[in-house]
Amino acid sequence: MQYGYFDDDAREYVITRPDTPYPWINYLGCENFYGLFSNTSGGYCFYQDARMLRLTRYRYNNVPTDSGGRYFYLRDGADVWTPSWMPMKSKLDRYECRHGLGYSRISSGRNGLAFTQTSFVPLGDNCEIHKIVLSNGSKADKDIDIFSFIEFCLWNAFDDMTNFQRNYSIGEVEVEGSRIYHKTEYRERRNHYAVWAVNVPVAGFDTDRETFLGLYNGHDHPETVFAGKANNSIASGWAPIGSHHIKMHLAPNESRAMIFVLGYCENPVEKKWEPNAALGVINKAPANALLEKYSSPEAADKALAALNEYWKTLLGRFTVDAEDKRMARMAGVWNQYQCMVTFNMSRSASYFESGIGRGMGFRDSNQDLLGFVHLVPERARARILDIAATQFPDGSAYHQYQPLTKRGNNEVGSGFNDDPLWLICGVAAYIKETGDYGILEEMVPFDSNDDLADSLFVHLQRSFDYTLTHTGPHGLPLIGRADWNDCLNLNCFSATPGESFQTTANYESGVAESVLIAAIFAFVGPDYAEICRRTGRLEEAEAADKAVVAMVETINKHGWDGEWFLRAYDAYGKKIGSRECGDGQIFIESNGFAVMAGIGLKDGRAKKALDSVKERLDTQYGIVLQQPAYREYHLELGEISSYPPGYKENAGIFCHNNPWVTIAETRLGRGTRAFETYAKICPAYREDDSLRRLEPYVYAQMIAGKDAKRFGEAKNSWLTGTAAWTFVSISHYILGIRPEYDGLRIDPCIPAAMKGFSVTRHFRNAVYRIVVDNTAGVEKGVKSVALDGKPLNLFGDGALLPDLDDGKVHEVTVVMG
Ligand code: BGC
Ligand code: NOJ
Repeated sequence: MQYGYFDDDAREYVITRPDTPYPWINYLGCENFYGLFSNTSGGYCFYQDARMLRLTRYRYNNVPTDSGGRYFYLRDGADVWTPSWMPMKSKLDRYECRHGLGYSRISSGRNGLAFTQTSFVPLGDNCEIHKIVLSNGSKADKDIDIFSFIEFCLWNAFDDMTNFQRNYSIGEVEVEGSRIYHKTEYRERRNHYAVWAVNVPVAGFDTDRETFLGLYNGHDHPETVFAGKANNSIASGWAPIGSHHIKMHLAPNESRAMIFVLGYCENPVEKKWEPNAALGVINKAPANALLEKYSSPEAADKALAALNEYWKTLLGRFTVDAEDKRMARMAGVWNQYQCMVTFNMSRSASYFESGIGRGMGFRDSNQDLLGFVHLVPERARARILDIAATQFPDGSAYHQYQPLTKRGNNEVGSGFNDDPLWLICGVAAYIKETGDYGILEEMVPFDSNDDLADSLFVHLQRSFDYTLTHTGPHGLPLIGRADWNDCLNLNCFSATPGESFQTTANYESGVAESVLIAAIFAFVGPDYAEICRRTGRLEEAEAADKAVVAMVETINKHGWDGEWFLRAYDAYGKKIGSRECGDGQIFIESNGFAVMAGIGLKDGRAKKALDSVKERLDTQYGIVLQQPAYREYHLELGEISSYPPGYKENAGIFCHNNPWVTIAETRLGRGTRAFETYAKICPAYREDDSLRRLEPYVYAQMIAGKDAKRFGEAKNSWLTGTAAWTFVSISHYILGIRPEYDGLRIDPCIPAAMKGFSVTRHFRNAVYRIVVDNTAGVEKGVKSVALDGKPLNLFGDGALLPDLDDGKVHEVTVVMG
């Protein structure tokens, strides 16, 4: 079934029917203010932190799905309808939703009345703008009533959904003309309020939900709209909303635009009130300034144009052209866009993440920046320093930190023993992209304590040493609470229903070991050694090299099962991911990562391991996490065995780790297979497959595996490490254009059938326009490279473009063969 198409020139995904198999959403905002926006105008917005400063209310797992958003009800004579389809599921003569980069536009029409809603968050301001245009395409005059509707969240989204004995008494608003102010808790400790305003005069308003909708009514039957007259209700407790009533006369062919702004405003404590504080009238200065700025359609258009320019420049840093349009648009546009979103949100707010649970992940954010660092390196730099500041002095880490306070979040626990290594991975990627070794000398607190501050380099050293000093009986790293696979809980033994595997007591056995952490160590260790070398720490570099060699030996000795790499040893020292096991005989993660680290490339183990992955784990929709799926709950394995077979970590296609295999395949030079593993999980290739259900322009965390009842169905789109890793796999390893310490490596590994491609890559202070010719039809191998017409010496794999640092554009022609 087709629900839409890619408009590549506009860089938009165009949804052509509103009843997509799941809400297909977009993100508005890329700085401090964010909105989640579905194709039927559902969703919510928040300032900086989806839990603590949420402006509008959204009920997850609601019935009907995706109710609540920014709604505009139209009353055209007696005909009442919602142009975004929801919430009335109105029959529309036409409908289209275009999700673009940081904005969305819904256009629809009924009975000769045309509607467009353009929604975005402007750069530099903390608000959502909704530009509404109504046009009368009929031959008769029309008198239209427009009712806006949003529901305010009482700021703390968790309390808002739980603490009703308090909440029903605290809601407060103020109304001044066309401006509705939400000021719950402003009287006491908050210094911020929200404003929902429109730039035209109103006939009335409502701010009390029940008055507007009518008791026991849903969004689909607002009494006020049917009555055609607002009640001017002032909320007091219960559920404050914002609704404007606008009357509009439209002659045939006449169009009118309105600008709605939903903004977040802050005042310094001493300036919270209008002069007489006792009157409790809020100081509107920040709202006035904001609304003044966006008081005309022209101003809104200008802000949107600036946003478009921003994205054009950003994505201009890496563009792809190829015959395979699906790959080109994903790698060149949508994958990078998703990387920006994961970088901003970590795992906090999506249609699968409620925005109240999770902060910024230590490992998640370090990996997210791999897909983002080429876009805005300064922000990646700041993020690295934030993350590192939450590290414990012994090198281990809180698993998450809160974006507002930037402090480690104890509630989500610690002791995931892979966490420290991802810091090395993130820092190495940053240095390769920028050449900025200065970051290593930045003083960074440990555990957010300035007294414990030391250089970032020391943080890396502690990360590296933590792994080396926490090894088990086989000399492999101890797994701790879990490694990258949150659900491999080998020290937890949880038998209590409902207990969180992530935070429950961890009985450190000193025995359970992770082959994956060992492989991650082997992957990032050489970078650590290189960083030491390049900063004159020669002894440390040598010691690190030795430690890596020793770890690889340990993996070969105790982490190899004969046909593939083992996954782990449990708390009893028993193998996991071995042919000796009943279920869970082979896992994807350790195999992908070990080969990515180059282990077994010379002795044939790498090839064997990847062949085993293909034979035992591959499916038409991607590679499943392990096989056979666990059919019973294993106390000694934890959450992984708690999922029904085929879902999530229990043999689901957990997309995040598929690109590890893709990259591993490129290390073997198998371009056709590498690309196949890339394309299988890439959403654009399943655009019209409604079985997948989710947005065709973004990756999902998981696709149900072959053991699942709904094999092939995707879940958890947007906020997943899949975004960054697939971008790394396609750009760095398949197209093969990857930053190294001394320049830009060109080393493609593509399907023999791919005749070539071109990429424009900004790298440090120069632009490289790279054209790759594969008329020879090989999978790997560079025969010649010319830089601005002059042949370049080849060494290593492919060629290394020097860091030209001259602010100029350079032409690079690459011939494979
Ligand atoms: C999920 C993991 C997730 C973890 C953290 C588990 O239930 O399966 O994918 O990372 O929870 O909240
Ligand atoms: C999701 C988490 O965000 C990520 O950190 C983890 O690695 C995967 N789950 C696998 O369990």
